[in-house]
Amino acid sequence: SSNESAVDIAHVYRGTFVHSTDHTAVEILEDRLLGVDTEGKVYSICMEWSAYPCEGRRLVHFVVCSEFFMPGMVDTHIHASQYSYAGTALDLPLLQWLNTYTFPVEACYKDLEFARNVYTHVVKRTLRNGTTTACYFATIHTDASLLLGQIANDFGQRALVGKVCMDTNNFVPHYRETPEESHDETNRFISEMLKKKYPLVRPVVTPRFALSCSAALLGHLGEIAQNNHLHIQSHISETKEEVKLVKELFPDYDSYTDVYHKHNLLTDKTVMAHGCHLTDEELKLFREKGASVAHCPNSNISLCSGMLDARRVLNHKVKLGLGTDVAGGYSPSMLDAVRRTLDTSKALTIQDPQYQTLTFEEVFRLATLGGSQALSLDEHTGNFQVGKDFDALRVNPRGPKLLRSLGVVKSQVCSGSFFSPSLFPLPPSGDDRNIAEVYVAGKRVVPFVERP
Ligand code: GUN
Ligand code: FE
Repeated sequence: SSNESAVDIAHVYRGTFVHSTDHTAVEILEDRLLGVDTEGKVYSICMEWSAYPCEGRRLVHFVVCSEFFMPGMVDTHIHASQYSYAGTALDLPLLQWLNTYTFPVEACYKDLEFARNVYTHVVKRTLRNGTTTACYFATIHTDASLLLGQIANDFGQRALVGKVCMDTNNFVPHYRETPEESHDETNRFISEMLKKKYPLVRPVVTPRFALSCSAALLGHLGEIAQNNHLHIQSHISETKEEVKLVKELFPDYDSYTDVYHKHNLLTDKTVMAHGCHLTDEELKLFREKGASVAHCPNSNISLCSGMLDARRVLNHKVKLGLGTDVAGGYSPSMLDAVRRTLDTSKALTIQDPQYQTLTFEEVFRLATLGGSQALSLDEHTGNFQVGKDFDALRVNPRGPKLLRSLGVVKSQVCSGSFFSPSLFPLPPSGDDRNIAEVYVAGKRVVPFVERP
């Protein structure tokens, strides 16, 4: 059942652990013992392994030269429903792209078998690529959205799942709800999802964006989120054209951010995707409310939407995570999001040599701890702090022969028997072949256990 304990016996992992803390972008803990209890939580991480009480616990050694554990990555924004066409249809700007490709595809999720097929693929693909936590958009269909939650639960992925809400769509009229439907179905989605008592999957209130929601609907959704203390996700200030249209559609509001704010949709459990064109005033409001931004660099470039100045967001002390934004972004891999984040920061540096480029270490933190904070899940995941769930990747930077050089940034893979302290082992050009195992809440979820 979904409620069984993560593992039936406490495990102790011996190996090198690499993670981020609030104080250090990358901390490398060489040859440690990390204890995971039967609830899947980290209960200790210590050095003195010879004196360690291992009785009654399964000791697992990973001291293979160059291997290490890192926290599972957090995809703060991904459209599970758009996975079916990822890597295609990137030739139009956002609003035309939505009308031409996205809405007609999303309408297909009325068909539960279609949904089951795509959702199974996306959950497996993201897990295999090291996404231990995903914040998903599904579609307007309640039953298919519930199915996505079930599939994430079955494969053991930590997930926030949103049934998309949209009551204005003039281009594909059959892919739209009435405000009442949207409101009622959101309530049904939430109550049915909560009834399942999935340990790692939660519902998230999901107005698609201001351009596809009436003010009445936004108000209802804000109320639902507030009454049930739920997460909220949406899109904001992705393109200049969108910002301009929001201004026309909501002339009485101070800003795009204010539209969400005035409908109680800007809270400390809100994550807004993109934010490329947010003003300083808007970022201040984000900071004040504790809302976060999901940086989706692949999508921002692929749809020519803009370039998020992530440094500016960090300087405003606004919580920031990374998102793949499949299928505006063509890659479902968080390692790709890491690379694109660095690319965007470097493109900004090309424009302005004074720009303070994001470091590799900072981006590693955004992909892990930053993402968990952006989703207000840092109590449970994001690093190897004692008390958090063991969400981890066992990384083999060498991987198959051709990937031998991956992960070696500053030094040699091995110096003596273990890492040299100067090694920075995030695989910048690695891929799923470098991810030997994936753990969520102490349970090994990759390689997949075949289910009947
Ligand atoms: N804005 C509203 N809907 C979407 C979507 O599906 N993808 C992206 N990238 N932006 C959006
Ligand atoms: Fe998106």
